[in-house]
Amino acid sequence: MAYLSSSGNTRRVAEAIHSALPDSIMMAMTDVGPLDGYDLIFAGFPVIAEGPPRKARRFLGRARGKKVALFLTHGMPASMDGFESVVPNCRRAAAGCELLGEFECQGNMVWWMPKLLRLYPRGRVRRWAKMSGEAHGAGHPGEEDLERARAFAAEVRGSLTVS
Ligand SMILES: Cc1cc2nc3c(=O)[nH]c(=O)nc-3n(C[C@H](O)[C@H](O)[C@H](O)COP(=O)(O)O)c2cc1C
Repeated sequence: MAYLSSSGNTRRVAEAIHSALPDSIMMAMTDVGPLDGYDLIFAGFPVIAEGPPRKARRFLGRARGKKVALFLTHGMPASMDGFESVVPNCRRAAAGCELLGEFECQGNMVWWMPKLLRLYPRGRVRRWAKMSGEAHGAGHPGEEDLERARAFAAEVRGSLTVS
C-alpha cells in the first residue's frame, strides 16, 4: 500500500488499511520502486485542488494495468457543493488501472489552509473558507472513519478471493 500525506490524515487511514491486511506492506508513495510483482495496490492521498496531487497522478500513471483501490482524505464535507467532482477526478487519474473501489473520508485541514482559501475573491471556495469545524474536517479521520477504512480494505481483498 502506497500513500502520500503531509499532515498525517491519509497516513492514519493507510495505517488502518494496513492493519486490516496483515500481509500488506505500507510505503510512502515516493519510496515505491517498480510495481511489477504487486497484485493489488492500495493508493492513498490527500485531495488537493479537488483532485489527486501531482505525485499521486504520476504514481497512478505508473500503476497502469494493475489492480488498484484508492483511498483519499479531503477537508470538504462530502455533502458540500463542489465535492461531487472530487471522486470522479480521482477516478479519472486512475483510468489506466483496474480500479477495484475507492474510499474517502474527511481529514482535518492544516490551520493555514482556510486562511489561504479566504484569499479567493468570491464563490463557493471563499464561502467554504469562512466556515469552520467539521466544514474543515475537524475531528477526522476519527475512529468511525478508520473502522470504515478497515472494512473497505477487507471488502476489496474479499472481492479478489471470491471471484
Ligand atoms: C494545498 C491544499 C489544497 C487542498 N485542497 C483541497 C480541496 O480542493 N478539497 C478538499 O476537500 N480538501 C482540500 N485540502 C484539504 C486536504 O485534502 C485534507 O486536509 C487532507 O486530509 C490532508 O491530508 P494529509 O494530512 O494526509 O496531508 C487541501 C489541503 C491543502 C494543504
